[in-house]
This record gives sequence, structure tokens and C-alpha cells, in this order.
Amino acid sequence: MFQLKNVTRRFGKKIAVNSVTFDIPQGQMVGIIGRSGAGKSTLLRMINRLNDVSSGSIHFGDLEVSSLRGAALRSWQRDCAMIFQQFNLVPRLDVLTNVLLGRLNHRSTVLSILNMFTREERIMAIGALERLGIEQTALQPAGTLSGGQQQRVAIARALMQQPKMLLADEPIASLDPLNAKIVMDALRDINERDGITVVTNLHTLDTARSYCERIIGMAHGSVVFDGQPKDLTAAAVAEIYGGGAEIEESMTSTSINIPAAQDNQKSAGVKPLALAGL
Ligand SMILES: Nc1ncnc2c1ncn2[C@@H]1O[C@H](COP(=O)(O)OP(=O)(O)O)[C@@H](O)[C@H]1O
Ligand SMILES: [Mg+2]
Repeated sequence: MFQLKNVTRRFGKKIAVNSVTFDIPQGQMVGIIGRSGAGKSTLLRMINRLNDVSSGSIHFGDLEVSSLRGAALRSWQRDCAMIFQQFNLVPRLDVLTNVLLGRLNHRSTVLSILNMFTREERIMAIGALERLGIEQTALQPAGTLSGGQQQRVAIARALMQQPKMLLADEPIASLDPLNAKIVMDALRDINERDGITVVTNLHTLDTARSYCERIIGMAHGSVVFDGQPKDLTAAAVAEIYGGGAEIEESMTSTSINIPAAQDNQKSAGVKPLALAGL
């Protein structure tokens, strides 16, 4: 069980997140929605401690996440992987190495500096890329991939952390609808098959409705809705997005509902393990 208790974050006089309290049972898929500036990113960043809380506390089971320091903090950041709108890969490094970077928190600094990854780690990295359907890109510089492929690399890197929780900050905001669907399907698959809790900020309401069993709506730093998609009425939507009656669902839509996602790059008969030098 993951818990936030009266979590507040101030930047100067600005209150970005205002006394937020909720629990998330292990294995839930949660969408956080709200206008730009509502506090969504700050909330996620406090969960994996890229930002500290100003007051309140964050707990994961018996662990008080919000007060962790040093090795315990690094261990939490490993358990709680994060992906970003802009992918945050190292563009000049090949895809495989980018994915292996997800292992850095698991290993000694010396081995990391020497860039020595074990055979098991390389097999694991190829497996993660295969799962995301992009193993054929393993040796390409990450920066040469399409946005959708880069986000899948970022997810593969997150999987290498073997996280208990996966945080995603607007993971599809820079993607076209087909790639948005591929990425959301991947997050759903990780949630359903691995039982990993997924908490994702989304700027599109229809995506949250179709993928998330629970939706948390934020406005001005506060939670103004917390429930199932079916309970997200027009009135609730108006409260989250403000602006009253003129708010329509289509305004926040990416039209993600594309019938069949086909992979735009097929493996040209190359053996994935051979790609990893195995
Ligand atoms: N590092 C920061 N310094 C100052 N203000 C910030 C910082 N990060 C976020 N804010 C402010 O906090 C509020 C919430 O921002 P954010 O969490 O990014 O919202 P969202 O992700 O919902 O768009 C905004 O008013 C934003 O300007
Ligand atoms: Mg944001």
C-alpha cells in the first residue's frame, strides 16, 4: 500500500500541491488529470523524490519515503521508476546501452564507470526491448528513433529497474495517436501482467477513461476528484478543468482509439541476442 498524507509542496509563495491525501493499493493503474499547472508533475516528482515535500508525508508500506536519505533513498528511486514526456534518453548512446542504464542503481559505482554489464543484464535488456517490440533497434543511437520508439526504450529502461511502481509524467503528450496507443498498451500490459502499480499523468481525458481503473483529478494543487471513470460526470470534469459548461471531452482528446496497432519496423531476421554480443 502506497499512501500520501497531507502532502504539500510550495515554491516560494506558490502552493503547487496543496494537502493531498490518498492511498494506492499495490497493482492499481491510476490516471492523474488536470489542467496545466494543476500540480500533477510536482506530485509525481515528490513520489520518487525528485522534489522534496514541504510538509506532509509519503509512505510505501512501512517505509517513510518522504524522509529517506542516502542509500535508502537511492533504493526507493530504483523501486519507483519514472518515465517522462521527453523520454530522457542519452541520444548518442545506442538503445541497448540506454536500457542497461536502468541497472545503474543496482550495481557498484566502479562497475558502472567501467560500463561493464553482465551477460545476464544484457539478456535482460534484450528481453525488455523484445517485450516492447523494438529489439531490432538495439544497436542504433537512441536519438535516431521515432518518438514512439524512444518512449518504448524509456519503458524498457524502467523495467530494468525491476520497479514496484512505475510513474509516468504525460508519457504520450509528444506522440501521435498510433504511438500513444502503443505506449499506453505497454503500460497497461506491465500493470496487468507484472502487477506493478502504474501512476500516470495524462492531459487527455479519454485516455485516462480507457486505460485507468481509477482517476484522480487535480485543480490548483488539490485533489477535486478521485474515483472510477464511470463516476467522472460532466460536472466533475468541469470542476477539474474549470471553465464550466463549455468544456467538452473532445477538447482533451487525442483520438487514441485506433483499432489495430501495427509495428512499423519489423525485425529483418536479426537474432536479438546476437545484437547484444551474446
Ligand atoms: N521548480 C519550480 N519552481 C517554481 N514553481 C514551480 C516549479 N515547479 C512547478 N512550479 C509551479 O507549480 C505549479 C504546478 O506545476 P506542475 O506540477 O508542473 O503542474 P502540472 O504538471 O499539472 O502542469 C505551477 O504553478 C508551476 O508553475
Ligand atoms: Mg506537468
